[in-house]
Amino acid sequence: MTLLSPIPQNSAVNPVFSPPLATEVALSMTNLSFVYPDGTEVLRQLHLSLQAGERVGVLGPNGAGKTTFFKLLCGLLRPTQGAVTLFDQSVAFGRFRSDLGFVFQNPDDQLFSASVWEDIAFGPQNMGLSAEQVEERVAMAMALTGTQSLAQRMPHHLSGGEKRMVAIATIVAMQPSLIIYDEPSANLDLRARRRLIQYLLHSEETFLVASHDLEMILEVCDRVVLLNNGHIVVDGDPSEIMQDRALMESHGLEVPYSLAGRELKSGG
Ligand SMILES: Nc1ncnc2c1ncn2[C@@H]1O[C@H](COP(=O)(O)OP(=O)(O)OP(=O)(O)O)[C@@H](O)[C@H]1O
Ligand SMILES: [Mg+2]
Repeated sequence: MTLLSPIPQNSAVNPVFSPPLATEVALSMTNLSFVYPDGTEVLRQLHLSLQAGERVGVLGPNGAGKTTFFKLLCGLLRPTQGAVTLFDQSVAFGRFRSDLGFVFQNPDDQLFSASVWEDIAFGPQNMGLSAEQVEERVAMAMALTGTQSLAQRMPHHLSGGEKRMVAIATIVAMQPSLIIYDEPSANLDLRARRRLIQYLLHSEETFLVASHDLEMILEVCDRVVLLNNGHIVVDGDPSEIMQDRALMESHGLEVPYSLAGRELKSGG
């Protein structure tokens, strides 16, 4: 676990983020800062690098800036300072990239067509794929997310859990190399949450996931970063970070139940 203090303006990138040789950097950013037009300062000089294949959880209290951070990574917001690079290409503000998928915090922001099938087909169609390829992509995305039976339903008539999996299918159909999930388990019942966790465990893409569902993060991520007060406070192993009670509580979080048990046992 690496506790990170705010990085001074002129410092070089923290060596902890140097990618090992012979691995592909999926996502990197330097000096990423963001202030909303009304003056709300959300992120201050973030430095972060993700290797291809990493599954990274983003923790932080309400208002820490997780969603803002994700929108910057996707080019939905323009950084006030700094830049984001995805697979060696700069992320440009407002420019769609099919190799990067963003599953919104609210599925209603993602679903807009008259049927689930059309919503899932929208991405592949806009990538210029043939009708046959679109059919294949939709079938693949539905099979992966378990949404086949919903194909002809109206998205806005679905339950919260059904909408969530369809929203994920609309992204999976584009086969992005990196997927960003913003609070994907929010409002899911136990069975739908378990299906989501199984899906994430078996997914092959690099992903970033923000969630207050710390047990889910523990199950699906191999690295976490904790965001608060505009900075990445800590970056490292999920269970090591999440069982640090003082650290968690000082950032408005709790040690997850499964780790609190372990902590008691190790303490005798
Ligand atoms: N359009 C906006 N204009 C001004 N301030 C905003 C805007 N959108 C968000 N903010 C502020 O930016 C800060 C970070 O918000 P953000 O939604 O990124 O947090 P979050 O970590 O995703 O929180 P949550 O856990 O509640 O989803 C908050 O203080 C929020 O009030
Ligand atoms: Mg959010």
